[in-house]
Amino acid sequence: MSPGGGRTPILIKKAVLETVAYRSTDLPLNGLPEIAFLGRSNVGKSSLINQLLGRKKLAYTSSTPGKTRALYFYRVNDAFYFVDLPGYGYARASKEEQRVWAVLIENYLEKRNPLCGAVHIVDCRHRPTADDLLMARWLRFHRLATITVASKSDKLSRGALARQLPEIKASLELSATEELLPFSARTGAGKEHLWSAILVLLKQHKRGGE
Ligand code: GTP
Ligand code: MG
Repeated sequence: MSPGGGRTPILIKKAVLETVAYRSTDLPLNGLPEIAFLGRSNVGKSSLINQLLGRKKLAYTSSTPGKTRALYFYRVNDAFYFVDLPGYGYARASKEEQRVWAVLIENYLEKRNPLCGAVHIVDCRHRPTADDLLMARWLRFHRLATITVASKSDKLSRGALARQLPEIKASLELSATEELLPFSARTGAGKEHLWSAILVLLKQHKRGGE
C-alpha cells in the first residue's frame, strides 16, 4: 500500500496559512498552483491537511461540523497552495448560507486557473451520501483531476476496510483505474501514497502551463 518504504516523498520546509477567502476577490493572484480539499462537513479535511503537512494545529479542526466557512489557503514551501474548502452537506446551515457557499465553491472549482486538482474525501465507514455522489459527478463532468480518499481508516479493522473500499468505489462510480486511497489523519496511514498522487497532479499542471 505504501511505496517508498514509509518515507514521505516531500520535505515540508514551510507551511503557513496565507489567505482566508470569503469571496472571489480575496483569492491569491500570484499564480502558484493549488490543490483543493473537499468533502462533507466533518469528514476530516482539515485533519488530513495537518497530517500531510506534519503540523498538528495549522488547519483548524473541530468536532462541531461546519466550522470551515471560507477558503483557507495554506502556502507550502512557497511552491503551491493547499486549499481547505468549506464542507458540504452541513444540515444546520441556513438555505442562504448553503447557497452562498455553493456559489463560492462552484465558481472556484470551475473557473480557477491555478487549480490543478482536487482531493475529494469521503468517510470510509459509510456509504457515500447523495451529496458525495453529486460532488464526484460534478468533478468528473468538469474534468478536474481528482484523487479520491477514504478518511478515518483507523476506525475500521483491516478486514472491514477491505470490504468497504470496493463498495465506496462502486457507489461513487469510480472506474477500475481510478483509485480510492484509504487514509488516517490520526495514524498517518496512507500518507506517502496520497502525497505521491498529489505530487503527480502538481507536476502535470506545471507541464500543462509551460
Ligand atoms: P469541517 O471544516 O467542519 O467541514 O470539518 P473537516 O472536514 O475539516 O473535519 P475535521 O478535520 O475538523 O475533523 C472532524 C472530526 O473528525 C474531528 O473530531 C477530528 O478529530 C476527527 N477526525 C478527522 N480525521 C480523523 C481520522 O483520520 N481518524 C479519526 N479517528 N478521527 C478523525
Ligand atoms: Mg475543516
